[in-house]
Amino acid sequence: MKPIFLEKKMNFNRKEKNGIRTNSLIKPMIGQKPLESILCLPGPQFLCLKEMLKNGIIDKNTYVVAVEKVDSVAKKIQKFLEANFNEYYLHRTEFYSLDLQDALEDEKLDFVYLDFCGNFGFEIKGWLNANHKYFKDSCRVCYTFKAINRKKQNENVVKRVYAKKVMNEIERKLQYTVSNLSRGVWGRSIEKDRLNVIASVNYYISDIFVAMDTQDFDVSQVILYKDGRHSEMVFIDTVLNGVKKTTQDMFNLALYSYFKQVGMGTRNKVRSALGIPSEKTKKRGRKKGTKNGVKKEKKKAITELCGIKNRKDSLTAGRKAVIKKYIKKYAKENEISFAEAKKRVWGGINMKLTIDERKVA
Ligand SMILES: C[S@@+](CC[C@H](N)C(=O)[O-])C[C@H]1O[C@@H](n2cnc3c(N)ncnc32)[C@H](O)[C@@H]1O
Repeated sequence: MKPIFLEKKMNFNRKEKNGIRTNSLIKPMIGQKPLESILCLPGPQFLCLKEMLKNGIIDKNTYVVAVEKVDSVAKKIQKFLEANFNEYYLHRTEFYSLDLQDALEDEKLDFVYLDFCGNFGFEIKGWLNANHKYFKDSCRVCYTFKAINRKKQNENVVKRVYAKKVMNEIERKLQYTVSNLSRGVWGRSIEKDRLNVIASVNYYISDIFVAMDTQDFDVSQVILYKDGRHSEMVFIDTVLNGVKKTTQDMFNLALYSYFKQVGMGTRNKVRSALGIPSEKTKKRGRKKGTKNGVKKEKKKAITELCGIKNRKDSLTAGRKAVIKKYIKKYAKENEISFAEAKKRVWGGINMKLTIDERKVA
């Protein structure tokens, strides 16, 4: 029978999966006081819940919201929750139909572990967009996805819809984790032809950024791993930082563009499905010197703009003055403080120099 067959295949007690769970997911939370409320997909062996209980990250009083669509697995999860927690909420169907208002009432979540191991589809993005308001301001949100996102249409949408400012912001978020992307958990190196993996992970993070609309977050870990016979996976660890951003319409724009790409209706049909007022049809066509009406701006590395050839060169007084001038310009253009601009610009320079040094080595 199908459920038994599925369960047999669903074994998450695997070397690399265990490594991610123990070292990347659990370790950073050890020593904190037990979490008040969490959301996760425990799977058939509830390994994440068991390990969090064992390490005192959660206890009997933690309110657990769990999701499982396979009925036989959900039955096992229910027994486990019943035996280990005073209160819980089990959603026994598709994840994206979970309404956190029903599940939480007045609570908000401390920790969310979206261990899907699949693609970041629009249903899940929609769910995140509608439900992130039930996350606490400092909530930790971790995701696992297939490392290669084969949905080309989605990548096209990301490229077309996301403003340059947003993409710059994503690049900044990744500066601190990019070295993790060049290595798997077990130190495997990623050759040049694996750059599509990195591009794909980049899109996932831009997608999360847009789905979370008003809520900003920091990316603390991005780790590639191989889950048994499964294809390569990526673990993305984010923490909300309480900062509100103003890209509220980004998500609807992305959805709209996506539907247009996959041919699911005319512009206005999609707009009305999303509750956005319809618009007058504009004349289509390319503007002179532009592609899809969007001016193609050539991106130049900061090192190149500031004339830096190597690390030693970046430390000379003359170069430092040029970089300072660039930071001032960058701060003004992006409407951010000098200190923030300095952090970003130097982050960019160091990243580029590290990549160059690796190439030489
Ligand atoms: C990777 S496993 C979870 C493993 C567990 N977190 C651990 O640490 O061992 C994912 C589980 O979520 C379920 N699942 C995946 N996608 C889902 C969806 N869209 N809706 C509901 N359940 C889903 C799967 O059936 C599976 O049991």
